[in-house]
Amino acid sequence: MNPVSIAQSQRNAMHGTNKLTIGLFGANCSSGRAVTLVPERWSGDMADCMKLVGLADEAGIDFMLPIGRWKGYGGDTDYQGATYETITWACGLLAVSKRISVFGTVHAPLFNPIIAAKMMMTADHIGKGRFGLNIVCGWNEDEFDMFGVKPGDHERRYEFAQEWWDAIQLAWSDKENFDYTGQHLQLKGIRAKPKPYGGSRPVVMNAGASPNGRAFAIRNCDAFFTRADRDSLDETKSRVANVKAQARELGREMDVYTVGVVTCRPTTKEAQDYYRHTVIDNADWNAVDGILRKKNLSIETVGETEFWRHRRHYANGMGGYPLVGDPDQIAGELADLSHAGLRGIAVSFVNYLDELPYFVQEVIPRLQKLGLRA
Ligand SMILES: Cc1cc2nc3c(=O)[nH]c(=O)nc-3n(C[C@H](O)[C@H](O)[C@H](O)COP(=O)(O)O)c2cc1C
Repeated sequence: MNPVSIAQSQRNAMHGTNKLTIGLFGANCSSGRAVTLVPERWSGDMADCMKLVGLADEAGIDFMLPIGRWKGYGGDTDYQGATYETITWACGLLAVSKRISVFGTVHAPLFNPIIAAKMMMTADHIGKGRFGLNIVCGWNEDEFDMFGVKPGDHERRYEFAQEWWDAIQLAWSDKENFDYTGQHLQLKGIRAKPKPYGGSRPVVMNAGASPNGRAFAIRNCDAFFTRADRDSLDETKSRVANVKAQARELGREMDVYTVGVVTCRPTTKEAQDYYRHTVIDNADWNAVDGILRKKNLSIETVGETEFWRHRRHYANGMGGYPLVGDPDQIAGELADLSHAGLRGIAVSFVNYLDELPYFVQEVIPRLQKLGLRA
């Protein structure tokens, strides 16, 4: 069933040779990552997702990373209220594309690991080895209540995720008819055929921010997503170096990525005006406040200065690194992030379909000239 072979390193590089890997983040959700009222905000609709993957694939964009979200955040737009389940979404996108990698963002506590292994292997066969896995352990407690699942505290969540991922890797290995006995999972007589495409496994990422989350990523993942510091490139550089050094201590090589929010226009002024229009003047502040409440971020818990800082950051693409400017500025900032050691970035736009063509036409060639894109 697997006539070709794909090296793990090829998968980890998202099948490409780009020094700076670029992906699209959050297109499976209504509004994407822009907490805004503007009418052109992203629909998240399947027809638009299908058009987008065609455009992105054609333009050489490396990956699409969806968000595993089960409930919206309310507000005036019910921000991220309509979302596609990510593995099935990936299957659709992989079926109509040729080069791009498509991730599933999978909540370990919500998916039986053997069923998840089977679903992801299926997606991987559809995409001929282009499926990737983002393991998430749970961010929003009320989403878990909807499933009657109690993910427990951080330590337990990540302990559980370790067993979940170990069981999946075994199911994808040559082992057959085996039992898995962990503290949280007891699985008997496991048999899972066929295996992922091409004799290697899907690239796996995680974006844990807590010490437990980060340790999990360093032990298990090929890619780690972290926030790039908005004010200091040196700080970003040291964060990246730190993670890589910790991985090396375990004998592992790990790529570090970040998330960004792009507003690219022919002039700086146009970009800044649109940025202000969407994420300040027309932010869905009721949704932003809902997000902050879920995260227990209030003046009482974090103080006035921090609270207002978080409020601004969540309005702007849920805290993604803001890339606002003309094509030279955007390319320059992406180059800086690359020089800080980041392997790639998952970006979002207010409307991916409207804005990606200009980014591809103007920013990608500049990155090529800088030697960051093949
Ligand atoms: C790039 C990126 C993607 C993420 N995707 C999701 C997601 O789709 N669903 C989710 O519940 N959490 C998501 N998260 C949250 C992380 O998985 C993680 O739970 C969060 O950063 C907090 O870290 P902690 O779990 O170590 O506390 C994402 C975070 C980042 C930075």
